[in-house]
Amino acid sequence: MVDGPHKTIPMGCPVFDEEMEVAAVNALRNERYVLGEDVFKFEEEFARYVGTRYAVSTSSGTNALQLSFLALGLSAGDEVVTSAFSFVASANAVIHAGSLPKFADIDARTYNVDPNEMVKATTKQTRALLPVHLYGYPCNMKEIVDFAKSRGLKVVEDACQGHGGVYKGKKLGAIGDVGCFSFYPSKNMTVCGDGGMIVTDNETVARAAVKLRDCGRTSRYEHDVIGYTSRLNTANAAIGRIQLKRLDDWNRKRVGLASLYDAYLSDIEEVAIAPKPCSGIEPVYHLYVIRAERRDELNAWLLKKGIQCGIHYPFPIPMQPIYRRLFGFKEDDFPVSLAASRSCLSLPMYPFLPKEDIEYICGQIRDFYNTKA
Ligand SMILES: Cc1ncc(COP(=O)(O)O)c(C=O)c1O
Repeated sequence: MVDGPHKTIPMGCPVFDEEMEVAAVNALRNERYVLGEDVFKFEEEFARYVGTRYAVSTSSGTNALQLSFLALGLSAGDEVVTSAFSFVASANAVIHAGSLPKFADIDARTYNVDPNEMVKATTKQTRALLPVHLYGYPCNMKEIVDFAKSRGLKVVEDACQGHGGVYKGKKLGAIGDVGCFSFYPSKNMTVCGDGGMIVTDNETVARAAVKLRDCGRTSRYEHDVIGYTSRLNTANAAIGRIQLKRLDDWNRKRVGLASLYDAYLSDIEEVAIAPKPCSGIEPVYHLYVIRAERRDELNAWLLKKGIQCGIHYPFPIPMQPIYRRLFGFKEDDFPVSLAASRSCLSLPMYPFLPKEDIEYICGQIRDFYNTKA
């Protein structure tokens, strides 16, 4: 039950407008449903946007990650070091590719994987590093790439939350050997369904990914690897092309809203605001995440006031039941991630979130700490 007269404020709100509707219908009427012309145009435009030579679309971000590892030639026994604090799919994709995820704890300030912890988690079996630009905040890529080069490791960026973010002048996804994106509806841009993209400058990897996503096909009736059905549907690609045109404007709006949240929340003692942009670091606020004392109580209070928040994520990946069962992780193995999982709260964030709603949300957070001390 929502208290009082205020409307409900959702946590996110994907855009689907008339131009996208027309593009999708045109694609359905005039093109092949699968791997039609819009798919290839979307790939070209996405590669140009990110600044890589190639982009290969897939049916999800998880598929993009899995196919990237396979295209890079990883196999059984190989290890991939990734963040202990991400959406579970980051690590699942490593397992889907037949390799083994190894986890590294995060930096408490940015929620992103700590490069020093990646170094510690690296063994003789490690073949790749998988930094995740969590919430659209760029990872410390210089340290990660330098370390990878010194050890001959591949870097796959999980940019599934980072469309349009920039690290030292380069778009997220274009810094490592391969970058992967998700177009799930909650993302900064979506195809209004599931979808993903692999970006790379490496022609061999791009060619392998093209084959793997399409049943291992070399020609209509010939297949020379065991591939997957991981293609993006044409109507979804048509929508993605329109969304891509809007992405920079939407991201600018997100950044503006984030700075409003910062201004309203920075003097509340019980709250730590989201990490801010700084020199060379241009986040895109896929989520605006605060750390809050008595997080669960605050979340329940806000919900009663009509404000829908999220928790990204309530468990570090190694604490997920399946990872505990498979690998025997203990609760305190990744203490910084564990602390984040217990205090993080994602406030509503989407480009057309009205400024008055942010004022209202922040007012409610202030009231909670004033009245429930
Ligand atoms: C960080 C991260 N990695 C991977 C994925 C997987 O993407 P998808 O849901 O498109 O498979 C997501 C998104 O859901 C994500 O947020």
